This record gives sequence, structure tokens and C-alpha cells, in this order.
Amino acid sequence: MALASVKLTPRVGSEIKIDTKTLLSGTAAAEIRELLEQRGVVIVRNTQLEDAQQLALAQTLGTVRLGTVRKEGVDGIMKVTFDKSQNNAYAEYFRGTFFWHMDGTYDDLPPLASILTPRVLAPSGGETEFTNTYAAYDDLPESEKESLETLKVVHTMAAAQNDAFPTPTSEQLEYWRSFKPKVHPLVWCHRSGRKSLVLSTSADHVVGMEKNESDALLGRLMGWATQRQYVYQHQWQMGDMLIWDNTGTMHRVLAFDMECGRRLHRVTLEGEEPVAAA
Ligand SMILES: [Fe+2]
Repeated sequence: MALASVKLTPRVGSEIKIDTKTLLSGTAAAEIRELLEQRGVVIVRNTQLEDAQQLALAQTLGTVRLGTVRKEGVDGIMKVTFDKSQNNAYAEYFRGTFFWHMDGTYDDLPPLASILTPRVLAPSGGETEFTNTYAAYDDLPESEKESLETLKVVHTMAAAQNDAFPTPTSEQLEYWRSFKPKVHPLVWCHRSGRKSLVLSTSADHVVGMEKNESDALLGRLMGWATQRQYVYQHQWQMGDMLIWDNTGTMHRVLAFDMECGRRLHRVTLEGEEPVAAA
């Protein structure tokens, strides 16, 4: 079938017009995956998916992830919220989501994608932003692309949490350090042949580079990759369904009242390819 889609910004994000029955049937799954890879984010408005439907949709698109760091919610449904009565295990961990990151950078295969649906919205704020790291890579000068392609970056949980908890307790430090650091190339050469930048709050340092130089490079690239022309800001409405390609984007949430009960349900798809060097 030919999927009708509208670009949300020139470089990232598309909205598709599809009825819920067709969406869940899987007949559009290949096209949705293709669009997701090209556009980073795919949304459907007014589709009102319940948990079972959200899982069913995920199963048409890939393999539902049940969690590697910790169990991914109940049967793959993760409640993304600061409300401890809804998700005590992760409420604190989610503070890191206010800063640009990729999910699962400690894994051999970072998750392919995640599907979000809102259940309780913030009265104000709480928009989710996505930046296209394929587009950010594509626009770099050719000479810089060549030098970046040789670099590797160490990703750590401590680095990922540092912005959210600048003065951590010794218990927090000990817990974060229990996660094994992971080394990934700075430039991901995907099976498709397309390349993207692998940046995230979890990026601690560039292998073999002085700390000052490494901080400056990672900071400059983060600034480059999050320029407005690469970013789509999603303003949530009840009934939305949003999928993002975790392998070619970063995401963050904008500030909102953390006591307001905002809650989104997330289903994540298992990664399908390692972060391969060019
Ligand atoms: Fe995230």
C-alpha cells in the first residue's frame, strides 16, 4: 500500500494518516519502517491505542524488548513517568531524559526504535524533542567526516546520569559504575550504507584523546547535532502514537511539573545491528 505521509519539518519527522485497523494489521509495517529510517520519527494522531494494541503494533515492526538493564516494565510496556506509584523502579532513572540521549548505548545492539503513547499529559511543558543524527552527520564538512570516522567513544552510566545528578551520592556512583562501559564508533555505518553520529549523554570520552580535547569535541558535536534544523518538537495530544528510530536520532523531554503525573507508555523494539564503524 502507498502510505500517505506529511513532513513535520524538512529534516526530521513525518505524520502518517492511517486508520487504527490498518495500522494494527501490519500491512503497512514495511513502509512504516522505511519511513522511520528516512525521517527518524513517525507519528499518527487520534489513534487511541491501548496497551495490547500498542504491543500488537510493535510486533508488526520488530521484536519487543523485555529489557536488559532492568526488566522493561510488564510484558514490554514501560510506564515512563516520575509517579512512583506507577513505576517505582525507574522513576528516578528517568531524570536523565531531560538531556539529549540515545537509549541503550550500553548494549551491543542499541534498541531499534520505541513506540510512545500518552496516558496522562502535563498541563504545560513535557514536549518531547528528537534530533536527526543522520542529517547532522550528512551536513558535516567532508574532511571532518573522515577524521570522525576513525574515532571511538566510551559510553558509561555515570556519564549518562551526570547532568541529572551533578552531586551524586556514593551509593549512586557505586550503582552506576556497576554497569560495564561500552565502546562504540563515533560514526555508525549502518547496514543500509547511511551514516549517523552516535552521541548521547552517556558519551564519556573519546578513546585515546586528552580529556579537554575530548570534552570539547563531544560538546561541539552535541551542539552541532541539536541545531534547530535537525530537531522535531512533539507537542503531545491524547490519542497520539509516536515511533522514533533510536539508531538515527537522539531525544529529550522539555521541562514540566514532575508532580503532575505525566505518563506515557513505551514499547521498545530490540536492536538489529551493532554500531559498526565505517
Ligand atoms: Fe530515552
